[in-house]
Amino acid sequence: MASLYYLTTILTSLLLLLSTLPNPSSATSRKLAALVKQQPLVLKYHNGPLLKGNLTLNLLWYGHFSPSQRSIIVDFVQSLNSPNTPPPSAGSWWQTTEKYKAGASTLVLGTQILDENYSLGKSLTTSQISDLASKAPHVNSINVVLTAADVAVDGFCMSRCGTHGSGFSNPKDKQGKFAYAWVGNPVSQCPGQCAWPFHQPIFGPQTPPLVAPNADVGVDGMVINLATVLAGTVTNPFGDGYFQGPATAPLEAVTACTGIFGSGAYPGYAGSVLMDKATGASYNANGVNGRRYLLPAMWDPQTSTCKTLV
Ligand SMILES: *[C@@H]1O[C@H](CO)[C@@H](O)[C@H](O)[C@H]1NC(C)=O
Ligand SMILES: *[C@@H]1O[C@H](CO)[C@@H](O)[C@H](O)[C@H]1NC(C)=O
Repeated sequence: MASLYYLTTILTSLLLLLSTLPNPSSATSRKLAALVKQQPLVLKYHNGPLLKGNLTLNLLWYGHFSPSQRSIIVDFVQSLNSPNTPPPSAGSWWQTTEKYKAGASTLVLGTQILDENYSLGKSLTTSQISDLASKAPHVNSINVVLTAADVAVDGFCMSRCGTHGSGFSNPKDKQGKFAYAWVGNPVSQCPGQCAWPFHQPIFGPQTPPLVAPNADVGVDGMVINLATVLAGTVTNPFGDGYFQGPATAPLEAVTACTGIFGSGAYPGYAGSVLMDKATGASYNANGVNGRRYLLPAMWDPQTSTCKTLV
């Protein structure tokens, strides 16, 4: 039975691999595609509400972040809603979320809370993350908890680099549903997993790491994961929006396109992206204040493909 289980596992991973590759181009994939009829990548809409209109994005910084680290992330959030950055822009990346049922989700930076003294210690549970998230105002908001490099969080680096979820402002009456997200700084705990492609991966094909666009492997990795959970939050805020697969382990707007940053990407290779000649840094999106970011591909409902900026 052990070998049967093993085979099932391999088949499942192959199916998963195929389903996440919109255009399998390698010979192996084609052969497999002939054996296993490939489904087009479609995120099904489950008829629930999405987050549209003006949304306040509050940030809760848990643990030590330097001012320059905070400004990388604050500039990223502001870049998502900035019409005046040259293409390819972070704002145009975010605009793909408008195609999930018509209508823009406009993120406006709100309150920032600093919890520099680790009020709940250095090891957090999932429910402590949602407790922290509920400390910021929550009317038409997305509250994002950002944990510092020395903070352990349930599941961090095991199965995830960040999450999003929802809570109630008034848990007793289940009133005032609000969305929250969490992303951790992976630089010391799992850069190969949560700051790839800025760090050598733990498993799989080894390609040289890319130079991080803001010269901070951990925080540039957090930007990728923040981009991922924010897109998931607005397109599947309460578990009945857009996703593929089981609701408990959904593939969402960006997680359906894992590992793709530029054209020609394949597992282990991020794809062809832009490079700053002076620093060697890789990026694919311009932001405010001359910032550059490397943003993941997002599933485009109009074309049913993973769309990259470059
Ligand atoms: C969002 O806020 C802007 C600026 O305050 C306002 O002009 C716009 O009408 C608002 N949009 C919605 C959908 O409420
Ligand atoms: C954090 O702790 C230090 C040392 O105990 C203290 O001086 C500082 O005021 C605290 N900061 C906050 C925001 O509570």
